[in-house]
Amino acid sequence: MTAKRIGIMTTGGDCSGLNTVIQRIMDGCVMRKWHLIGIKDGTDGLYASPAQTIDMNHEAFQFANSHLAGSILSNGHAHTTNFVSAAQKGKLSQFNNKLKKSLQDLNLDALVLVGGNGSLSLAHTYREIYSNLSLICIPKTIDMDIPKTDKTIGFDTAVQQLVSYCDQLLLTARSHHRWFVVQTMGRDCGQLALHAGVAVAADAILIPEVKFDVDNLVKHIKSSKRDYGIILVSEGISLRGHSGKPADMIARKLTIADISNRTAFPEHIQRAGDTLASDRILAAGFANCALHAIENNETYVMTTFENGEYKTISLDDFFTTGKPQRDPNIPGMMTSNAYVEPDNILLQIATDMGIYIGEKKK
Ligand code: F6P
Repeated sequence: MTAKRIGIMTTGGDCSGLNTVIQRIMDGCVMRKWHLIGIKDGTDGLYASPAQTIDMNHEAFQFANSHLAGSILSNGHAHTTNFVSAAQKGKLSQFNNKLKKSLQDLNLDALVLVGGNGSLSLAHTYREIYSNLSLICIPKTIDMDIPKTDKTIGFDTAVQQLVSYCDQLLLTARSHHRWFVVQTMGRDCGQLALHAGVAVAADAILIPEVKFDVDNLVKHIKSSKRDYGIILVSEGISLRGHSGKPADMIARKLTIADISNRTAFPEHIQRAGDTLASDRILAAGFANCALHAIENNETYVMTTFENGEYKTISLDDFFTTGKPQRDPNIPGMMTSNAYVEPDNILLQIATDMGIYIGEKKK
């Protein structure tokens, strides 16, 4: 078999576990005597002339650093030409053509794209960019909102980051007899808040998928056997007639009800933290699956972990099972999201354990 040239890039928001997956792909390439080229800064690196790349070898990337959060390849700048800004200027096809040309110039046999649901949706919509190579996507996100996979790289570590954060807050909460309203990330998916909330035994977990009633939340907190604790609020929730940050909205209501409280915003700490073993195992499983997919000449596929099995599925499947919706930023583009479903076992466990999770499922 002739030596292959493989590209790898990380796109979208970062999360812990990206370096592990890059390192595992690198090891697999070295074993196969394939050449691995790291594309810097996601699509920024491909849009640059010439494309910005790093030759991935054991000198370039220290194995001992592969558990660190962030991405050695970086994920891109904030104010550069990207799919959204190109679409806004009516220059999307030029942008796409440039990415395609860069990939051709790099002479790649395959590209491993490590991305979230935005990146995977873009890859599906603008598949023409990748028509000259094998495109293998690996799902990563702290939001866990990607359809057709039971796990995404970075999620478990993000949950642990939140748990550690809440554990610390609880100590000061107890000293001051007060409640902390902690706002989690997750966009419009409640998985992160739900998992962290069950793990820390929060007193309440508010997520976008489940309607809640503030009066009942207040009653619940007032009837607690403690006068301190944690209320986890997912960033995607809304409260009719209120604006501002969700944690602030809830905190105001608690204050009116005479419940002493403070808000806390762990923000990007959720995307940090040394990669947990479970995320490293997932990264190894996905990397292995991606390398086999390249050997089998698969393309337009995504690695998944479903019912204990690692496999690839077509990117089309990503759209047949998720909840497809129009992307507000790019005309004609569809994205596909997964959410906390009404039968999610954690909703039942939380309820059974006396955690307030809302009223009825939307
Ligand atoms: O999608 C990952 C995520 O961390 C979301 O949970 C969050 O809403 C968003 O990215 C934050 O993005 P930024 O770093 O651009 O503020």
